[in-house]
Amino acid sequence: MKFINSTQELLEILSNKKGIIFLLGQTDTGKTTFAKELIKRYLEKNKKVAFIDSDIGQSTIGPPTTIGLKLIKCNEDAHNNNYSNLYFVGSTSPRGYFLPMVIGTYKLSQIFLKSVYSTIIDTTGLVLGDYGQNLKFYKINLILPGYLVIFEREDELKPYREMFKNNKKIKTFIIKIKSDIKERSYAQREEYREKKFREYFKKGKEQILNLGELSSFPPIVEFKSRIQKFNVLGLEDEYNKLLGIGIFLDFEQNENIKIYTPITNIKKVSFLKLGSIKITKEVKKII
Ligand SMILES: Nc1ncnc2c1ncn2[C@@H]1O[C@H](COP(=O)(O)OP(=O)(O)OP(=O)(O)O)[C@@H](O)[C@H]1O
Ligand SMILES: [Mg+2]
Repeated sequence: MKFINSTQELLEILSNKKGIIFLLGQTDTGKTTFAKELIKRYLEKNKKVAFIDSDIGQSTIGPPTTIGLKLIKCNEDAHNNNYSNLYFVGSTSPRGYFLPMVIGTYKLSQIFLKSVYSTIIDTTGLVLGDYGQNLKFYKINLILPGYLVIFEREDELKPYREMFKNNKKIKTFIIKIKSDIKERSYAQREEYREKKFREYFKKGKEQILNLGELSSFPPIVEFKSRIQKFNVLGLEDEYNKLLGIGIFLDFEQNENIKIYTPITNIKKVSFLKLGSIKITKEVKKII
């Protein structure tokens, strides 16, 4: 365990480290900003990096409700809106979705593990209390990152220092954050989320899927009884790889359903995951 005085110092240390780097801290502690800087450092050293954004509300990779993975080989990759893989969680808050959060982040962390120098995992600010500790403990416990970076205002993440202090695999760095980091309001967060949804669905169109030919989670009987207009759906292929997300619009005849989605390979959809959220008025305007 090591206390670090400046972000610059930690960037320098980590840019020479291989393996998985897990960023942990409350909201607005500078995790995402740090990740971007670290990616820059790797690129300067011609090292490939994988970036996982497991924030399903304030997503920087892919639309909200998904965990995103991006393989970054050059500056262009770091700045465009592309992604390599997505995992559907189905909510914009981790509450009640711990299993998909943990499983999704782990699955994505394995994809480029052998082909990149390092993998950076950015996370949500849900870290405190039983809830936060459950989510983050099991995520870290499963992934076993080589490096755990704790962004702390005061001593609020001391439980994590305790929980992992005897783990031989994980090296922990603690960075005390400056008080001049700007906090974003609830309204700003909501606006950002809406913008990301709108961008994602901008090129969408209505498509028909046949429930008789597909599998789903929850299983098809529950799926049909629970689904409501404007629910978000995960559209997966026959290997349960997420192709994209869609919005449920209506039941049609003969077990058909009408959805709205930007994905172009609709024939590949063979599995549906039902999300818990519905898109809002603002997003509906583009449908
Ligand atoms: N070292 C820093 N000094 C000053 N401002 C910073 C610093 N790091 C980040 N910021 C600013 O603080 C705000 C929050 O930073 P950032 O988005 O990186 O936090 P975060 O921990 O990822 O938050 P969240 O959990 O909501 O995703 C941003 O406006 C960013 O520009
Ligand atoms: Mg962030």
